[in-house]
Amino acid sequence: NGPLGEVWDDEMSSSMLGSRLRRVVQNYQAMNKYGVEVSGPGGVSSRPKLSGPELLCQLKDKVEVTTLTPDLQPFSSLPWATQLPPKSLTADLGPYKSCAVVSSAGSLRYSGLGKEIDSHDAVLRFNAAPTTGYEKDVGSKTTIRLINSQVMASDDHRFLSSSLYSSGVLVAWDPAPFSADLTQWYNRTDYPIFIQYQRYRRLHPLQPFYILHPRFEWQVWQRIQDNMAEPIQRNPPSSGFLGTVLMMSLCEVVHVYEFLPSRRKTELCHYYQRFYDAACTLGAYHPLLYEKNLVKRMNQGSDRDIFTHGRITLPGFSKVNC
Ligand code: C5P
Repeated sequence: NGPLGEVWDDEMSSSMLGSRLRRVVQNYQAMNKYGVEVSGPGGVSSRPKLSGPELLCQLKDKVEVTTLTPDLQPFSSLPWATQLPPKSLTADLGPYKSCAVVSSAGSLRYSGLGKEIDSHDAVLRFNAAPTTGYEKDVGSKTTIRLINSQVMASDDHRFLSSSLYSSGVLVAWDPAPFSADLTQWYNRTDYPIFIQYQRYRRLHPLQPFYILHPRFEWQVWQRIQDNMAEPIQRNPPSSGFLGTVLMMSLCEVVHVYEFLPSRRKTELCHYYQRFYDAACTLGAYHPLLYEKNLVKRMNQGSDRDIFTHGRITLPGFSKVNC
């Protein structure tokens, strides 16, 4: 297999993890914080392994990228709902020709990918990932920033005051119970996403700021589970995969950087922090391992692109013919 033996294997399973991480993943597989109701995998042998194009069609057909609008219950009867954008994200943004999704992986360090990333028409970044001081490796353009409710709520991220969040379009998400309607979720969010949203909007009224419909996360989760031979963690997908699917709905072609690790593969969690944990790349809470299996199968670029640039190429949904 030569040096390319190192790229992501699309049949990764929890049994290939080290014993510590395997235990953590197995615990999450057993836990069911969000009340996920599925029949589970239909059995290894009964499951046809879909081709990349078939997987792309499934994603396009079964996942709806929508955001909250003021007309939806319970928001329609809440006075602050006028702070929500009147239209869904996909109606307001794009279509873009070529897009970059910048994972926050430690393997972006010393990648020199900054120029390439900035050459795309739109760039998606995640959570607290900075560009200042890292331009050479991650670029400086931020078109959209996808943030989770934990980042919005935690004191150390200074979400309301940090300049990190004040450019580009913000998109936030919070895990809802699996079968909850919007009202049930509104009364039981994981973190206080709506309180922080209202505060942020008052401070930055002109910056576009969307909230993902929680149905989206679970539709994406279902696509992962239905295409895996073992039960995956019953927790929402990682921001990285959610953002990738989001960009597939806005762009003609999506390049994802260091989601599948390149030859720079490292246990360094984020390119911007001195913290080491293999769980950042392989997943613990999130079904990240399985997300990466799917992305590997859908990739239209070469293994060499993964190996040398950590680059995946996916078609946008507008370019997928089913
Ligand atoms: O940690 P955070 O969620 O902010 O990182 C953004 C995304 O980048 C993750 O959700 C994950 O999909 C991806 N990531 C990764 N490997 C890492 C760190 C992050 O694949 N080491």
